Amino acid sequence: MNKEDLVQQLANLPIPDIRFHESIGSTNDEGLAWAEAGAADGSLVVAEQQTKGRGRLGRSWVTNPGAALAFTLILQPTPAEMEHIGLFSPLAGLAVCLALQGMGLPAEIKWPNDVLLNRQKTCGILAESSWEAQSLRAVVIGVGINVAPSSIPPADQLQFPATCVEDHLGRPVQREKLLQEILAAFFTWRGIMGTIAFFRAWEERLAFKGESVYLKNSGNEVLTGILLGVGEHGDLRIHLSEGGVKLVSVGDVHLRPVDYFEGSGS
Ligand code: BTN
Repeated sequence: MNKEDLVQQLANLPIPDIRFHESIGSTNDEGLAWAEAGAADGSLVVAEQQTKGRGRLGRSWVTNPGAALAFTLILQPTPAEMEHIGLFSPLAGLAVCLALQGMGLPAEIKWPNDVLLNRQKTCGILAESSWEAQSLRAVVIGVGINVAPSSIPPADQLQFPATCVEDHLGRPVQREKLLQEILAAFFTWRGIMGTIAFFRAWEERLAFKGESVYLKNSGNEVLTGILLGVGEHGDLRIHLSEGGVKLVSVGDVHLRPVDYFEGSGS
């Protein structure tokens, strides 16, 4: 990848500025610093390699050069979007899922926003916010996608089974083109974030629907039940094993099918 190709490939999208780095600590850190310095809505950071890539819950995220997509989009939510601020990362997951489906791949979303191929993780998303006193300055949405096989971390570093796009496609992927398709879907669906059509599109692509799942929140509370779908605010609807339907809101929740959990740590 290089900046020139990126600028050309993304020319028709509402992206006012792009920063491309051969190697950087974390595109999210750069996105947060750029937001603080006044980055406009839609500004984009892309890196070939991250040396301190960050995942959810303080984990690290490996981005080896030439093998992955790692980018951060800086957003300044409109007043209407402020009502659905927690939906930006599911929106990014939906956009990645749509782009992979557009390539003929059976991508699914592990609620709320990881993207899976064949029930294995190929994309993770980390949304963070930048504040100025009490007011939100910007939201940064960091997306990491395993594209080539060398992007998949060793099994002992994984919390959830992982895969990559090329292993499912059977041919090399042009990463600039994949990025363009993801961002085009993101900006299209951004306009209807939080609508019934948005929740339906999300639910239609949900992994493990109708299956027994295990959920653990940051307070180590555990729930098991059948995954029903997405509720009207983006909550996960579960038919609990002990009876009754529960809505689980988007937050730091681990979700996995019960059969993945047996014997696993988190
Ligand atoms: C997860 O834990 O699943 C989220 C992983 C998010 C990784 C991406 S890669 C681009 C951006 N920069 C980071 O440091 N993290 C995100």
